[in-house]
Amino acid sequence: MSGFARATAPFARRLLRVTGVDPLGAYELLRAADPHGPEPSPGQFLMLATAERWGGGVDGRPYLPRAFSIARRRAGESHFLLEDVGPGTHRLAELRAGDALWALGPLGRGFSAPAAGKRAILIGGGAGIAPLAILQDTLGREATVLVGFRDAAHARGAELLRGARVATDDGAIGHRGPCTDLLAAELGRDPDAVVYACGPPAMLEAVRAMCASLSVDAQLALETGMACGFGACFGCAVPRLDGGYLRACVDGPVIDAAALERVPEAVGAHP
Ligand SMILES: Cc1cc2nc3c(=O)[nH]c(=O)nc-3n(C[C@H](O)[C@H](O)[C@H](O)COP(=O)(O)OP(=O)(O)OC[C@H]3O[C@@H](n4cnc5c(N)ncnc54)[C@H](O)[C@@H]3O)c2cc1C
Ligand code: FES
Repeated sequence: MSGFARATAPFARRLLRVTGVDPLGAYELLRAADPHGPEPSPGQFLMLATAERWGGGVDGRPYLPRAFSIARRRAGESHFLLEDVGPGTHRLAELRAGDALWALGPLGRGFSAPAAGKRAILIGGGAGIAPLAILQDTLGREATVLVGFRDAAHARGAELLRGARVATDDGAIGHRGPCTDLLAAELGRDPDAVVYACGPPAMLEAVRAMCASLSVDAQLALETGMACGFGACFGCAVPRLDGGYLRACVDGPVIDAAALERVPEAVGAHP
């Protein structure tokens, strides 16, 4: 497999202008003008913070920026899929067109392109589908897309991807059950495919274990908790199969599944 060109982040954070925040079922799609930012490779992320109301004041916490996958680049805009799970994502979701947004990045190591002739299977759970959208845009060939959500409101997120097959926990849309059921069927038909995955830890671990048992190449985008995002704090350390640790922000967030013994339960923020 070869890499997509990895963008190097400018040294300092930059101020972006929000162009819109659109509801997408249970999610928000945040769009911001970033005409001078480097083109990210799929799987890279930005550290985001609102320019106003990011202090720990009345509603508590923020201060540190939060990590978000770049979901799409279009006409000088960067798009982000937000799930409002706490004060940081809540304040980002409250932004409106014209508001200012601090951004640092693109950061991290993204996905590698599949070898010639290999089919790509993209599998995502919840807001973890975000980096798969820019990957689908970049691949330039048809990929199989499998996505899983807890219910119909969250399943609207599937609109971010073309031709996605959907699974829901409650069976409201598509297959009833985990999206890894769909992956098992696909790999049964084509064990020579390459798998690209992002989502909650239990889903990533199921993908890792399935691909290991079938000797299928897999790349996992880990969304472990991050503080700095650029390698300085070791707050994002993940154990390696051969001993030692990976820092998810600089060695990942996309990690070769074969490098991990298992996906730690604490990794990933998307229920
Ligand atoms: C590389 C990367 C890419 C990401 N991309 C996206 C994205 O595209 N869309 C999106 O909605 N979110 C994404 N996330 C997750 C996002 O950064 C967190 O949801 C956000 O930091 C939560 O901040 P908060 O202040 O809203 O909530 P907090 O109060 O910080 O957290 C809310 C709840 O989620 C848990 N939590 C938060 N972050 C994590 C984490 N990283 N690991 C485990 N548990 C966590 C907390 O324990 C708490 O229960 C990404 C994370 C990483 C590292
Ligand atoms: S988040 Fe600081 S080293 Fe990775």
